[in-house]
Amino acid sequence: SVILLYTIIMYCSSPLHKQAALRYEIFICLQFQWLIVPHRPQCEFEAIIMFKLFNDKQILNESHGTSEILMSPKYPKDKFVYKKLFSLFGQRFLGNGLVTARDHEKWYKQRRIMDPAFSSTYLRGLTGTFNERAEKLMDKLADVADSKKEANMLHLVNCVTLDVITKVAFGVDLDLLKHSSPFPKAIETCLKGMVSYLRDRFFQFNPKNRGYINEVREACRLLRTTGAQWISERKTAMQNGDEVPKDILTQIIKAAKDSMTEEDEEFMLDNFVTFFIAGQETTANQLAFAIMELGRHPDILEKAKKEVDDVIGMKHEISYDDLGKLVYLSQVLKETLRMYPTAPGTSRHIAEDMVIDGIHIPGGFVALVINTIFSNDPLKFDPDRFHPDAPKPYYCYYPFSLGPRACLGKNFAQMEAKVVMAKLLQRFDFTLVPEQTFDILDAGTLRPKSGVLCTLGHRDYKNKGS
Ligand code: HEM
Repeated sequence: SVILLYTIIMYCSSPLHKQAALRYEIFICLQFQWLIVPHRPQCEFEAIIMFKLFNDKQILNESHGTSEILMSPKYPKDKFVYKKLFSLFGQRFLGNGLVTARDHEKWYKQRRIMDPAFSSTYLRGLTGTFNERAEKLMDKLADVADSKKEANMLHLVNCVTLDVITKVAFGVDLDLLKHSSPFPKAIETCLKGMVSYLRDRFFQFNPKNRGYINEVREACRLLRTTGAQWISERKTAMQNGDEVPKDILTQIIKAAKDSMTEEDEEFMLDNFVTFFIAGQETTANQLAFAIMELGRHPDILEKAKKEVDDVIGMKHEISYDDLGKLVYLSQVLKETLRMYPTAPGTSRHIAEDMVIDGIHIPGGFVALVINTIFSNDPLKFDPDRFHPDAPKPYYCYYPFSLGPRACLGKNFAQMEAKVVMAKLLQRFDFTLVPEQTFDILDAGTLRPKSGVLCTLGHRDYKNKGS
């Protein structure tokens, strides 16, 4: 079949567009795509998206279509994105891991094995690690406050989330705020490479890009060889009868068969790389956006600080139960993902004909589903939208996706984000460095372009709270 290169430019009429927040320029090879944007009467804002397909414009505003597509296991992830992510420029990348697996049976088997590492009992036991890693960030921030230097908050929270995932998932202590490591750069390179690889079909044929493509391949290889080494160490420990944690690495090993073929080994590495990347970047970006918005809204910041003072006072160890009491902080984090869905969408292959919003769509199309809410006054950062008594926005807010392929790490991510934010609010006053941009960088995931530069001061928190 003839594959055509279409340039799809999606513009949202939202004022967000004016700050370049929801502007995507996507270059994809495809035959036929439909964009589905959730819309509900209570989300009064009408999203109008131009979908250019050789002058053909199609956009569906329909919440039921969205839920039907995402909730049903019969619509696989589409091959244009997910099959392509098997490798980057010829080097195996996410392979058939949890995010990219398209075959339902194979995916389901992996997911069931992985579930125990995300059960609420297991997560409760991780609170100590979240606290311990967040404390390292607080030590670093204390140094920054003393030195009166500027802090790049995105970089710092990235170090913490990477520290957390390597410790919690793989039992490895990187301590990135103290020691340098090749991993942050390797992840960054893989993500950038992923964007070029997915969106520009001719990228790899341009001789100018050869050096860069080699860097991307090298970065993928680094992650996979590291995985191979850490898996081999863990397997040896298991064979020796040593006590090993029931963490993600143990589950990855269990997900593969006992008699290992080369493909089984590669499959373990697929999931290793999947967790290394999926388990870190999106949470770091959410944290950085939250800090940015709190810096822009002193009233919301004060309210969040007051709640933290009331709930945790001057305690250093935040308990699992404390996290449940930080209701306003949860609202802040939810509103952050509404304005900045760090993983903005997903896509499914629909083989059969469908009627959505009264429109008949012939089978064999790809549905791009955007997972953020378009609500009234969308530019306003307003955590009260998520007040426990506020009307629930069904099917127009799902930053962790919906249905069987929804994010496995949702609770993990939100516990981690809350521990980090609560400690930050408890200990520090922060101010955004003036004249930095509030633009979003679309780097596969969404992140703040400025890095969120802040100056910090110590809070006199010891005299506040309980
Ligand atoms: C704020 C943080 C996070 C956000 C916004 C987020 C969002 C998402 C979204 C939208 C998907 C669906 C992707 C798709 O359809 O292509 C997804 C899948 C996934 N996420 Fe997350 N995620 C976050 C954090 C995490 C963390 C911390 C982990 C692991 C520790 C994780 C592990 C996964 C996995 C394994 C999948 C694939 C699930 C499956 O198909 O079975 N995520 N995430």
